[in-house]
Amino acid sequence: MDQKVSAPRAGSAPLIDPFQRAISYLRVSVTDRCDFRCVYCMSENMTFLPKAQLLTLEELDTMCSTFIGMGVEKLRITGGEPLVRKGIMTFFDAMTRHLDSGALRELTLTTNGSQLEKFAPDLAAAGVRRINVSLDTLDDTKFAQITRWGRLPQVIRGIDAAQKAGLRVKINVVALKGFNEDELFSLTQWCATRDMDLTFIEVMPMGDIGNEDRLDQYWPLRDLRARLAERFTLTDLAERSGGPARYVRLEETGQKIGFITPLTHNFCESCNRVRLTCTGELYMCLGQEDMADLRAPLRANPGDTAALEEAIRAAIRLKPKGHDFDYSRQVVDGKMSRHMSHTGG
Ligand code: GTP
Ligand code: 5AD
Ligand code: SF4
Repeated sequence: MDQKVSAPRAGSAPLIDPFQRAISYLRVSVTDRCDFRCVYCMSENMTFLPKAQLLTLEELDTMCSTFIGMGVEKLRITGGEPLVRKGIMTFFDAMTRHLDSGALRELTLTTNGSQLEKFAPDLAAAGVRRINVSLDTLDDTKFAQITRWGRLPQVIRGIDAAQKAGLRVKINVVALKGFNEDELFSLTQWCATRDMDLTFIEVMPMGDIGNEDRLDQYWPLRDLRARLAERFTLTDLAERSGGPARYVRLEETGQKIGFITPLTHNFCESCNRVRLTCTGELYMCLGQEDMADLRAPLRANPGDTAALEEAIRAAIRLKPKGHDFDYSRQVVDGKMSRHMSHTGG
């Protein structure tokens, strides 16, 4: 394998897109596979990419290191389920050097929690400090229903292990009408008791998911927020976690709650991120089809990342202003054919 890319190239200019947004956050989907089949994310019978098309762990290292050399300070590993990728800890361990050098400010992941019991201590040792765990319900039966293949106790054990390893946990809840509306307060309370942050996400129209109807699933966060406000005093916070969430504090519990509202509020104006898929495609926006193939320039020039860097710059020059998701006309507009597991959410 080519030598490790470890330091920013001299004079490498930061990545700035046509709308003057600095790109400092790279989300990397390391696999499109998952051990769950969440109904809003996948259809029951998914066809996954042949393994030969995936970037190797070394190639993922070179890709990420090149981005870090160009100003990326936050790396979030996603999937599919990132922890089902074989050998993934080798990759996390390799990224530690960028934390040590100070080039990378945060190394983190978004996970369904199923493998955390096994990996939490290793993740903490690699320098991960904070993780996001997707969990939409605290009811065993509903959990099995929404994830199709998942089992709640395994995820809870994973969260326990993460907290025990000293990782800060944020729970991501996709707000689903008629599904977890009745758990708004119990989920909030559960997170408060365990000292975990909580973020609600509006369901986005990603991928063909079979018979599920997006409009039936859609629970606008403005309604969710109004329900929270019936019981708690909400104070808007200016702080940001580098992602799209906007936060409030519940004065009665001191707890921080995030809202990710791609449908009711467009946060694209402050977008700082791009997404790399497990096959080396760079998506400049979650909600648009434009992408650039970075695998070809990577593979064509082993040991030399100049062509890759140029391909990255060319891609960033094409970053669109934002997505076009829209449910307002009672039809699902701006729908994407890609599954969320392809681009990593
Ligand atoms: P923090 O670092 O904790 O702020 O995390 P994050 O919100 O950036 O990451 P996470 O993986 O937890 O993402 C939560 C949700 O936000 C996922 O459903 C993502 O799909 C969604 N999301 C993240 N970035 C974008 C974006 O640029 N556009 C849209 N529409 N959704 C996004
Ligand atoms: N809309 C909103 N969020 C989704 N996620 C997966 N699919 C969708 C969708 N269609 C969430 C997961 C996870 C995050 C990465 O994306 O629950 O928390
Ligand atoms: Fe897997 Fe996450 Fe998609 Fe659920 S939402 S199927 S856990 S990738």
